[in-house]
Amino acid sequence: MATRLVMCPHCGNTISIEEKPVDKIYLICPKCGKKGVVRFKHKETKDSIILVRGLTKYYNNHRAVSDVSFSVKRGEIFGFLGPNGAGKTTTIKALLGLIHINEGKIEINGFNIRRKEKEAKRYVGYLPERVAFYGNLTALQNLYFYADMRGTNREECKALLEEFGLGEHANKKVSGFSKGMLQRLGMARAILGNPSVLILDEPTGGLDPRGVVLIRNKIKELNKKGATLFVSSHVLSEVQAICDRVGIINRGVLVAEDSVSKLSGRLNLKPKMVVDLDKSSDTIVDAVRMVEGVDKVHVYGRRIEVICDAPSKVKVVLAVVNAGGNILNITTEEPSLEEVFIRYTGG
Ligand SMILES: Nc1ncnc2c1ncn2[C@@H]1O[C@H](COP(=O)(O)OP(=O)(O)OP(=O)(O)O)[C@@H](O)[C@H]1O
Ligand SMILES: [Mg+2]
Repeated sequence: MATRLVMCPHCGNTISIEEKPVDKIYLICPKCGKKGVVRFKHKETKDSIILVRGLTKYYNNHRAVSDVSFSVKRGEIFGFLGPNGAGKTTTIKALLGLIHINEGKIEINGFNIRRKEKEAKRYVGYLPERVAFYGNLTALQNLYFYADMRGTNREECKALLEEFGLGEHANKKVSGFSKGMLQRLGMARAILGNPSVLILDEPTGGLDPRGVVLIRNKIKELNKKGATLFVSSHVLSEVQAICDRVGIINRGVLVAEDSVSKLSGRLNLKPKMVVDLDKSSDTIVDAVRMVEGVDKVHVYGRRIEVICDAPSKVKVVLAVVNAGGNILNITTEEPSLEEVFIRYTGG
């Protein structure tokens, strides 16, 4: 992050501070000890389709979300992560104007969600954390109802049910649907009318493995066609596979916002090299441990896993060969989002 110099209005002392993705920070001047506030003016670029500044939400006296600021760029897939109770659903409900917020500004497509709710939500599709439908109506009738509400064509409803594997259940009452079936119907409803922004709160919750793949492919397909996706999820491998950037929220505070590779780079997380040998030996393992830039070495039978920086990979290979090792296969795994998540949300 860039640094900025500010002057204490009381004693004239110059203080160096780091730019933060928040609206303001509180400071104590190290010279005169007076308290003050520094406000940041962020570049609210035209390419931000979702813009959140200083979002704060209390439930009674409990602060569920605290001064959260982030932006989602037009056309990206943004993953929103955090432990249970961190404030993801609360933030999403705030994005959609579904709850009263205590402080902050939210814009979708340049429209303020509080003052221009209708305009802001016009092109937004939403999958809530807990999907709900009219139980006494069939799946198709439910979709017709929402298509009418949105003013979109009823024609796509049947195709959407087919696409989400509910074709044979189209005329069954939703009250008899399983959790996964409801989730599929929820996704179909979210993408009715081809919205340009999709906000999905745990889209793969309750889905079987085929359902998970279906949703992943659908997200990628919609994104290719130009949609922006904001996806909250606990399935970090899925998030890592599809998201351009992620935001991590912990105890109501946004603790990170960037691409997974930049976040892992900032944490100095190193890739993992997996070396399969026809036979391992202490000599080989010791030789690998001695290589400069190698952090950790784990041995699993004939497999050696090496955590090392990129320039050391070749040295590791040479060390193995020089120690008499016969390499059968080498793969490299980038640092996982799981590690990034644990580091940012630990403690
Ligand atoms: N309607 C409510 N009334 C009171 N407290 C609430 C309400 N909704 C959420 N909270 C509280 O706000 C905090 C954030 O909850 P939220 O549902 O946003 O978390 P989350 O990150 O979506 O969690 P999860 O991963 O479990 O879905 C929690 O402490 C929760 O208990
Ligand atoms: Mg939630």
